[in-house]
Amino acid sequence: MNAPRPRSRLAIVGAGAVGSTLAYAALARGSARTVALMDVNRRKVDAEVLDLRHGAMFVPQAEIVGSDDVEVCRDADVVVVTAGAKQQPGQSRLDLAEATVGLVRKIMPGLVEVAPDAVFIMVTNPVDVVTYAAQQVSGLPPERVFGSGTVLDSSRLRSALAEHCGVAVGNVHAYVAGEHGDSEIALWSSATIGGVPLLRWTALPGRPPLDAAARERIATDVVESAYRVIEGKGATNYAVGLAATRIIEAVLKDEHRIMPVSSRLDDYHGISDVCLSVPSLVDRRGVTATVDVPLSDEEVAGLRASADAMREVQRRLGL
Ligand code: LAC
Repeated sequence: MNAPRPRSRLAIVGAGAVGSTLAYAALARGSARTVALMDVNRRKVDAEVLDLRHGAMFVPQAEIVGSDDVEVCRDADVVVVTAGAKQQPGQSRLDLAEATVGLVRKIMPGLVEVAPDAVFIMVTNPVDVVTYAAQQVSGLPPERVFGSGTVLDSSRLRSALAEHCGVAVGNVHAYVAGEHGDSEIALWSSATIGGVPLLRWTALPGRPPLDAAARERIATDVVESAYRVIEGKGATNYAVGLAATRIIEAVLKDEHRIMPVSSRLDDYHGISDVCLSVPSLVDRRGVTATVDVPLSDEEVAGLRASADAMREVQRRLGL
């Protein structure tokens, strides 16, 4: 008798630029045994599934299915929500709040009904407020509904630091925390490069110093990254697709990986009842703990300001 097929069913809601790139990245990396793509636009989702299937021989074995019916998400182990309004050039993520929170509140009950045991990962922006609304309407325990948060921003920060310092990105450990958006902050005081505390980093021969001015410029570039990409190509999709895939793997493979995902905080440096990204433990159950990394007074103040900004949007939307 054949051994039971390994269960790892990933459902992706939304087959736009982000959702279809996420499906592609998950297949290319062999993240899940089944990738189910759902979108209200049946022609679009059928075409995306067909195009992905045509590459099946080049990637690890996986089943690729799609539909405009929520049934295609049934029994998923992880459900990723990417559906929502697209950020236009010059528009902030928070400008999308009313439209996308309304959409997520509408679709979450149906998703929970077909996938009651799934871990739900929100990618739709503004991801922190969307995560808060999704968790609230789902009735699921907070750890099972979280957002991609600043995993992407932390990747942007690490690649910028690696380039500035002339080292491999794998040698840089640094987090962006707070809102996935304009009020996010770089956590300089816990960052390291090659095991050296970043704030004590000495420039390698021929490389510029990583002084306060350089750190300020890099942090600003990270915050402005999405605006620049959207200005040039209309949307961001590759990096966010890869970031979300990495998070999905931490859940499906029960990796106990520390990642700056967005979850509902409970007295994190006094911050509660709001979703923000802080270094957190991600495993098969979702976000099971936050990690108390050392923070400077300025970083604590920055996190609290981010929390205030999210709480104001929650209040405005009646969440
Ligand atoms: C970005 C989008 C995903 O930062 O918010 O690229």
